[in-house]
Amino acid sequence: MSDILRRGRLSKSPGEEMRAYTSSMEADKWIFEADVFVDMAHTLMLQEQEIISEEDCSKILSGLLQIKEEGMDTLDFSYEDIHISLESRLIDLIGEEAGGRMHSGRSRNDEVATCIRFALRGELLSLLEDLMKLETTLTTLASDHINTLMPGFTHLQHAQPTTFAHHLAAHADAFERDIARIISAYERVNICPLGSAAFASTGFPINRYVTAERLGFSNPMTNSMDAVSSRDFLIECAAAFSNIMINLSRMAEELILWSSQEFNFVELDDTYASTSSIMPQKKNPDTAELMRGKSGTVVGSLAALMTICKGLPLSYNRDLQEATPHIIKSVNVTDASVRMMTGIMETLTIHEEVMKTQSVAGFTTATELADTMVRDAGIPFRTAHQIVGTLSRMTTTPSLKEIDQVSSDVLGYKLSEKGLTKEAVAGALDPLGNVERRLVVGGPAPIQMRDDLTDKKRRLAALQKEIWAMDLAVERALENLTEEVKTKI
Ligand code: ARG
Repeated sequence: MSDILRRGRLSKSPGEEMRAYTSSMEADKWIFEADVFVDMAHTLMLQEQEIISEEDCSKILSGLLQIKEEGMDTLDFSYEDIHISLESRLIDLIGEEAGGRMHSGRSRNDEVATCIRFALRGELLSLLEDLMKLETTLTTLASDHINTLMPGFTHLQHAQPTTFAHHLAAHADAFERDIARIISAYERVNICPLGSAAFASTGFPINRYVTAERLGFSNPMTNSMDAVSSRDFLIECAAAFSNIMINLSRMAEELILWSSQEFNFVELDDTYASTSSIMPQKKNPDTAELMRGKSGTVVGSLAALMTICKGLPLSYNRDLQEATPHIIKSVNVTDASVRMMTGIMETLTIHEEVMKTQSVAGFTTATELADTMVRDAGIPFRTAHQIVGTLSRMTTTPSLKEIDQVSSDVLGYKLSEKGLTKEAVAGALDPLGNVERRLVVGGPAPIQMRDDLTDKKRRLAALQKEIWAMDLAVERALENLTEEVKTKI
C-alpha cells in the first residue's frame, strides 16, 4: 500500500463508499491556501529550532511553493483529507527523506484547527467589509429621507407617523451591532492551535509563538487539549451569522410586503426581480424571498454545529470534520446575502408620495392628539386615551366639536373650555408635526435624526479603521512569510 497514512497500521485499503463517506477533500478546498501557509510557517520554525536541517527546510519549502502554484486540483482526492494528500504530494516531489520530516511535532488535529481559524478569519474580514458597505448604503439613503413621511407599524397595523430615515436607521443600527459581534468573535477566532499536536503538544522543542506570529494570529492558544478539540468559535460565528441573516430576513420581509399592490411603497430594480413563466405581467421580489429563505439555511447550520459538538468528550474526535462544511456554507450565504441587500437598497425605487399619504391612514396621529389633550387641557393620559379611542370609532380626523361631545360624555365638560384649541387639534393631526415633536434621543424628528446619523457616521468611520487594521495585520504577516520562504529556497 503506497498510502502514506495507512501503510503502517492498516493492511487493507478502504472501499469507494467508505472513502467517500469519510473524506473531507471537497470541504478542504476551503483550507487549501491556509494549509500551505501553515506548512510553511511550521517548516521555517522546525529549521530555526534545529529540528530539521536547512537543506531539508529548503526542499520542503520549494515543494510547498510548487504545490501552491499547481493548486488543489492536482492533489490526489483519494486521500481522506487535504493534510495527508498534500504531504503525500510533497513526498512525491522531494522524496521522503526531506518531505517526511515536515509533520514532525504536529498532528492533523492542530493543523486542521489552525487552517479553519485561518480561513474563517479571512471570511470574517470580507464579511465585515461587506457589512460596512451595507451600513454606508443604509445611512446615505437615510440621510436623503429625513423628511420622507411614512406610517410606522406595530402588529403590522398603522401605528404612528415616522420617517423613512428613522425606519432605515433602525435596520442600520441592528447591522452595526452585528459588525461589533463579528469584530468581537474575530478575537477568539484569530488565535493559533498549531503545536498542540494530537492534544498533548510535543516533546520536540518547537516555538509556538513564532508560528502564531508568522501566520498573523494574535497568540498561540494556551491549553493544547482545548486547542485541538474546541469548536465554540464556529458556534459563536454561526450565531453571529444567524443574527445577520435574521436581520436581513426581516428587512427582506418588509421589502416583499412593500412591493405588493397593497402597500406599493417601493419597487425593486428589475435586476433583483423575477417574472412568472405563465403570468406575463408579474414582477416578483424573488431575491428578497430567497434571502428570507436562506436565513433558514444559516440558522440550520448553527443548529447542526451545536448538535455536532454537544456530545464530544475531549479531545479530538472525527465528528469535528462534519462541522467544517456548515461554517463554510453559513459564512458564504451570509456574505452573499449582505452584498445582495446592499445592491437591492442602492437601486430601490421609493414611492415617497404613497408613503406620505399612508402616513396618516388609520388615524396614526391618535397618540399625539391624546398627548395634546394632556398638555393643553390638563387631563390624565388614561382619560385622553379613552376619549380618543372613542372618537376613533367615529372618525380619523376629529374636529374640536366632536372632541367636546365625547369629552362631555366621559368627563362631564368640554376640553375647549379647559384650553384645547382648534389650532392645537390641527397641529396634533398633522403627520409632519407629529414627527417634528418627537425630538428625544432616538426619535424621528428631522433635527434629531440628522444628529443621530452624524454620530453614526462617526462610529462607522472608527469601526472601518479598526477593520482595516485587522486586515493589514494579517496581510503584512502573510507577505512577510511569503518573502521569508523565498529567501530560504
Ligand atoms: N479531516 C480532519 C478534520 O477535518 C482532519 C483531522 C483528522 N485527524 C484525525 N485524527 N483523523 O477534522
